[in-house]
This record gives sequence, C-alpha cells and structure tokens, in this order.
Amino acid sequence: MLLDTFGRQAVDLRVSLTDRCNLRCTYCMPEEGLQWLGRSDLLTDEEIVRLTSLAVRELGVREVRFTGGEPLLRPGLVGIVAACAELEPRPELSLTTNGVGLARTARALREAGLDRVNVSLDTLDPQTFHTLTRRHRHQDVLDGLAAAEAAGLTPVKLNAVLMRGVNDHEAADLLGWCLEQGYQLRFIEQMPLDAQHGWDRSQMITAEEILERLATRFTLTPEPAAVRGAAPAERWLVDGGPASVGVIASVTRPFCRACDRTRLTADGQVRNCLFATGETDLRTALREGATDAELAALWRAAMWGKKAGAGIDDPQFHQPERPMSAIGG
Ligand SMILES: C[S@@+](CC[C@H](N)C(=O)[O-])C[C@H]1O[C@@H](n2cnc3c(N)ncnc32)[C@H](O)[C@@H]1O
Repeated sequence: MLLDTFGRQAVDLRVSLTDRCNLRCTYCMPEEGLQWLGRSDLLTDEEIVRLTSLAVRELGVREVRFTGGEPLLRPGLVGIVAACAELEPRPELSLTTNGVGLARTARALREAGLDRVNVSLDTLDPQTFHTLTRRHRHQDVLDGLAAAEAAGLTPVKLNAVLMRGVNDHEAADLLGWCLEQGYQLRFIEQMPLDAQHGWDRSQMITAEEILERLATRFTLTPEPAAVRGAAPAERWLVDGGPASVGVIASVTRPFCRACDRTRLTADGQVRNCLFATGETDLRTALREGATDAELAALWRAAMWGKKAGAGIDDPQFHQPERPMSAIGG
C-alpha cells in the first residue's frame, strides 16, 4: 500500500505520458520557448506498463489516469491502455485530454479498455478558444467530445478553467450547454503551475465567484460531503438534480486531507503531490535493473513523505519548479 504519515492511502495514480502539448493554454504554457524532455529521458511504453502494473498489483492502486502534456500525442497510447486493461485486479482507466484528435481515436481507446475521458474545454466561443489556447482547434474538441460519447467513454466529464475578463462570463453558458449534451462539468480554480510563473492570486476566479456566476441562472444545492469521498470536486445538484456541477477549489478550499493520489511523470519520477518540491527517481533505478520489490520500496518511501497539504494559499508557498505540463495535470 502507498500510505503516508497522515494515514492517507494513495489508490489513484496519474501517469503522464508526455510533457508536450498541441495547445498553448495561457494559464499553463508560454507561446514558445518551453524546453521539452529529451527522448531518452521519457519512459518507454514498456517501462510505463511495468511501473503501472507494479502500482496496481503490489501497491494498492485502483484507478489509473493517463495525462500529460497531451496524452493523445503519445504514439503508443492505445497499446499502453490495452496492456493496463489486462492487469489484475483490473484498474479503472481514464484519460485527461484536450480532445484534439480524440474523434479519431475514441473508438480504438474504448476497444483497448479505456473506461472514461475528462476533456478540457474552457469556452463555447471559437475566438475565445483561440485567445485562451493560441490555436484554432475548437471544432476538433467538440468533435472529440461527441466521439467520446458515441464510443461509450462515459460519463464524459468536462474540465474548465475560468480566466478573468476572458471567459469568466461563460460559466452559466458552459453549464447550460453541458446539461444539454449530457456532459458532467467541473470548474477548476486556476493554480500556480504555469511554466511562465504568471499566476496572480488576486486575478484568479475563486470557487465562490464561480458559484455566484452559476447562481444567476441555476439553483445549486450542495451534495452531501459523504458523497464526495476523496474526489477533489465539491459538487452541487443543479435545479434539484439529478444533474450536478463540480468545482475544484484547489486554492481556496483545498482537498488535501482526503487526497488519494500518487503521480508518475513522463520521465519516471514519482511525485506525492502536484505541488511537491521533491521527486523520487524510479527511472534510473528501473534502468539499472531494480527488482519490483526495490521499485515498490522506493515508491512507498516517496509517498510516506507526503506533506499534510499543498498550502497554495499560504504566504510561504513556493511554486514547484516543474510546470503542470511536465508533472502531468
Ligand atoms: C495539464 S492538462 C493535461 C491533460 C490534457 N492536455 C488536457 O488538456 O486535459 C490537465 C488539466 O489541467 C488544467 N490546467 C492546466 N494548467 C492549469 C492551471 N494553472 N490551473 C488549473 N488548471 C490547469 C487544464 O485545463 C486541464 O484541464
């Protein structure tokens, strides 16, 4: 098991498949100039499957989510999913993606054993999409969402980040649209994980503001805390339910006390928290011939040292050196 000194058990593994992305979301990456990981630094498909398998068979991981960068850019993605779907006990398999190209791969991913997708989409307006992502791919994302639904990668979840003066007026429109389409929407507070260190607490749209904007059109009733479990999103029933909306208030209402996550970066480093300042190098050990027992011991030790909380709202907070795209969001 992956336990820490605060009694939490990590059962949810985020595996980053690449640090590269085909969008340039302003809150995540600069337009250009970001240094990518070298090819030989990246774990191979076989190495990813070996470490994921170890986590599932030996360390109690029950859910595996592939992320990045943009995981659809990984050529071996379908094969990695297929290999992980063979594991015993069978983990739940999901993918966090920007949806570009998903229309082409949704069916193959489903057939390989992927259970669900989370697609990131911050706006319904193609021009605002370009302002936020610096790319004209809005229709690709809509097509990807439709293909995911058609392929049975359900429930399709949608992640949205609101930026002041850019798309924050769209909160209620996004929710209305997701209700029509049958997608589950979750807003994420903007976090200090951008490569260019441009995050400004005073500019961030808080969970409270998100809820205020939604309340102009919808009646929101908090879902009981017991239903939430270790999920980072607090959820509200919309107009009495059954539909709901989530808000991940990582900054203003962090969920660290119930955190059940462990992370593997694309270059084989274990991180016990998105905001950790240290990492544990499994890649070197693996390439030097470490046994499964040795790798498992390293992973356990990495998680044992997990801090009580990320402390983003603390004045002493230091942004991790690696950006979200390199850690795996
Ligand atoms: C880093 S991306 C990686 C996976 C994939 N490329 C995608 O777009 O979903 C994962 C999620 O992190 C979100 N994200 C990136 N930077 C963020 C930030 N600074 N604050 C909050 N969320 C962020 C994205 O909007 C996306 O929903």
